[in-house]
Amino acid sequence: MDRLYLLLNKMKYYFKIIFITVIALLGACREDDNSDLIIEREEPHNNDPGEPTPYTFQVPAHFSRIGAPFVPQDNPTTVEGVALGKKLFFERKLSRNNQISCASCHKPEASFNDPGKAVSIGADGTTQGIRNAMPLFNLAWTKITNSDFNWHGNAESLEEQALEPVVNPLEMQESWPNVVNKLKADPDYPRLFNEAFGTVDIDSHLVVKAIAQFERTLISGESRYDNYINNQSNGPTLTAQEIRGLQLFINEDKGDCAHCHGDQSNPLMTDFQFRNNGLDANPDSGLAAVTKNPNDIGKFKTPSVRNLVFTAPYMHDGRFTTLEEVVDFYIDDIQESPTLDGFMRKKRELTSQERADLVAFLKSMTDSSFTRNPAFRP
Ligand code: HEC
Ligand code: HEC
Repeated sequence: MDRLYLLLNKMKYYFKIIFITVIALLGACREDDNSDLIIEREEPHNNDPGEPTPYTFQVPAHFSRIGAPFVPQDNPTTVEGVALGKKLFFERKLSRNNQISCASCHKPEASFNDPGKAVSIGADGTTQGIRNAMPLFNLAWTKITNSDFNWHGNAESLEEQALEPVVNPLEMQESWPNVVNKLKADPDYPRLFNEAFGTVDIDSHLVVKAIAQFERTLISGESRYDNYINNQSNGPTLTAQEIRGLQLFINEDKGDCAHCHGDQSNPLMTDFQFRNNGLDANPDSGLAAVTKNPNDIGKFKTPSVRNLVFTAPYMHDGRFTTLEEVVDFYIDDIQESPTLDGFMRKKRELTSQERADLVAFLKSMTDSSFTRNPAFRP
């Protein structure tokens, strides 16, 4: 044992000597300003940026009523990943001829929607899509009810969803190999991918992982309505008219909107379910295009009724220009069809004053701190 101990000590000693010599040599090289060597010394540092920093979600306290944001196990949210995802979200290189970015159709100042356009326009500036762009906020909760993404639910995760716009001939009209080559040739991206994912080997899966991380941070829950349900005395809350509108929204014998769009127990203002709310007698396929189930014809993802002032026109095809038109539709114009939702099979009756109150309430769920948040700007 003693001999082994001595041997180990001796080895330690020799290692020390070698170590000191190497340091001294490197120091000497530095004095000679041998820049080649210095670069060699720095490279290992660059290649190993260390573990990325876990990201802390900024969740309004009353959102705890519906549970924590959903984050998939294979894509934890990190500060570096979110920063990279934001840059990619605003990156025009994701489209053909570098014309448009995700943000062209999902504008931060419009609650990440494309206001004024019934259907979106592709990268070439002329090709018309078939659907109204969806606003992007509180997306981290879509999966709490096991729901999916897009109006007709054809994407199971945010990561999967983000793969599609790039190659969609109605949207960015690009190919993933082209995008990856453009990003690899960029002066910044290899370093940023290394910081976020520990590799400079960029591929489409890492691109969509970063974008999904950024999308999960888009949380909106600071409107006057939120102040009201939080009993906040310091922030502005609802007016008397808006409170009347809220009561109509919840009242099952009046507006009865809350069954699908959420009440105080669900501040997201949607339950994310796919439903036929009676827009057409011969509805568009909707969810049935994905499930191939005829019972799903005409079913679309129930959107949140937050931030509506930014997102006109409304519905999956942008058919209604104003919220007054939307409310009139729910009262006067529900179309019967085999898949019409049970909550729609009743006559809603609201006076013109009540309709105005309901619209006033909808507008009170406007969160300008979200649309102005510098963290969500390029
Ligand atoms: C040309 C306009 C356009 C571009 C560019 C675009 N989108 Fe969209 N986005 C849409 C439209 C339209 C929909 C609805 C699609 C549907 O239901 O078929 C949508 C839906 C979504 C949804 C679903 C939201 C939900 O609540 O289910 C997400 C997430 C999304 N887009 C993210 C992105 C990302 C990320 C990019 C960039 C990689 C992007 N979009 C690029 C128009 C666009
Ligand atoms: C049966 C469930 C259900 C009920 C009840 C319901 N909605 Fe909806 N709502 C939906 C669905 C589903 C959509 C999307 C439909 C589509 O585009 O095909 C929608 C869309 C909307 C939109 C458009 C949002 C956007 O971003 O385009 C508004 C606004 C709206 N509803 C308000 C209301 C109001 C106000 C009430 C009560 C009078 C109400 N809804 C009752 C399911 C419902």
